[in-house]
Amino acid sequence: TPVLKQGEFVGSLDCGTTSTRFMIFDRYANIIAQRQIEFPQYYPEPGWHEHDPEEIIGTCDTCITDTCNDLEAAGWTKDSVKVIGITNQRETTVAWSRSSGRPLCPAIVWDDSRTKNTVVHFENKLENEGIEIDGSFKKGSEGAKALRDLTGLPLSTYFSAIKLRWMIDHHETVRQAHEEDDLLFGTVESWILYRLTGGKSSGLHVTEVTNASRTLLLNLHTLQWDPTLLRFFGFKPSILPKLASSSEVYGTIAKGPLQGVRIGGLVGDQQGALVGNKCLKQGEAKCTYGTGAFLLFCTGEDIVPSNHGLVTTVAYQDGPNGKPVYALEGSIAVAGSAIKWLRDSMDMVSSASAVNTLAESVPDTGGVYFVTAFSGLLAPYWDPGAAGLLIGLSSYTTPAHIARATLEANAFQTRAILESMKLDSKSDLKHLKVDGGMTNGDMVMSILADLGGFTVIRPEMRESTALGSALLAGSAIRLFGWDISKPETLAEVNTRGDTKFEPGMTEAEREKRWKGWQKAVERSKGWDE
Ligand code: G3P
Repeated sequence: TPVLKQGEFVGSLDCGTTSTRFMIFDRYANIIAQRQIEFPQYYPEPGWHEHDPEEIIGTCDTCITDTCNDLEAAGWTKDSVKVIGITNQRETTVAWSRSSGRPLCPAIVWDDSRTKNTVVHFENKLENEGIEIDGSFKKGSEGAKALRDLTGLPLSTYFSAIKLRWMIDHHETVRQAHEEDDLLFGTVESWILYRLTGGKSSGLHVTEVTNASRTLLLNLHTLQWDPTLLRFFGFKPSILPKLASSSEVYGTIAKGPLQGVRIGGLVGDQQGALVGNKCLKQGEAKCTYGTGAFLLFCTGEDIVPSNHGLVTTVAYQDGPNGKPVYALEGSIAVAGSAIKWLRDSMDMVSSASAVNTLAESVPDTGGVYFVTAFSGLLAPYWDPGAAGLLIGLSSYTTPAHIARATLEANAFQTRAILESMKLDSKSDLKHLKVDGGMTNGDMVMSILADLGGFTVIRPEMRESTALGSALLAGSAIRLFGWDISKPETLAEVNTRGDTKFEPGMTEAEREKRWKGWQKAVERSKGWDE
């Protein structure tokens, strides 16, 4: 057997909505080895979307094992991996048992909209009873504002507390576990950390602040769970994980090829991409086009409230004593998943990249607009009752026009978010950094620049989400001298170039199309009422 070389690498476990990946990076962000496995998606009823928490863990274990085998096949010892980070689909809610260490029900995925009535229930509660702030009850619009000021979030099916409430109210096992203080609540990073560090035997029940800032239970100002919010949603404190920063050593891996390796970074995937793009300071922004699309604008240490349909969220916290950095975010529920839908449900194309070729075969959509509101609309519209809508169809319409309208929907929604960001942050974004699977096609990027009216910057190395968690993990043990709070220490990381896409369309044409989109959105809103 050949003698394996000893290196210094950092691993990143990226558990997204549809697949899990494990990547091993060197100090320059070169990928040394990687594996990816898709896991099953369950849609038991319209609007429902579930994952099996055990299947998620299965893909994590297999990805780590397979990547380590590849690493050795490439001539490196697996001891070369010094630390790993974990990054994850956010808001997806897992409920498991303290006594058995096993899930109590399927995980409810972030874009699941079954909880519309739960949202209505809490809207009514805000209206009638209000929420207790400093000893007095704030009701109606004052209550909604108080909730937003506290959490940065609106009441929506998107966020975890609503999903957990539904679980307790609809699964007898979860209700009973809550009653008996046996229920452990967590977002996906919390669940993976628990299991990777030994599950029930270690009992490490920890969550990280960027993820916690998506639950509706975290006080954005103190970065602590807020008793007011627990009371409002009716949860016992015993369900809550311990809060931790985005960059510190939480524990070590309990088994498998990386047994004993430290876990030094945890971060929600969209914040991970912000860090991976090195958008660490006020005014820097990125948009990731994955299953959904998520535009995050870093506001530094300022908590900027949104009056225009965005959410305020934690961007990252460097260590337990680090000052939190915040971001404004616009979340679009459907981006790549619409392309998957054209491929898998509509049989319109055989591969995701074929959508680009099809869309490219026509110069425009022939007047078609596609509001991809498959589970209502998130930012900046926040309408759970909005319906998916194809409008402007005629005998002239072909699949190519629909394919193009699907790509255009991304561009219009990105513009809608940027318009809100301009108003909330009082600064104009002239260019946008992008990443994610959908950004591989040049045509999609040109459509984005044309309809958005801004320059699109696409880095050559776009594994930003995984890189972000690797940087946070490396920084926790000062591997390679990395220090997330000192961006100059990351100067050698990912210095490969960018491709720029400039807007080519006339202003008049852009505005005409924008008006068309706005009309289509108005027609899609409130359908399911
Ligand atoms: O908020 C949901 C988001 O974290 C999911 O990201 O990349 O799995 O679509 P992605």
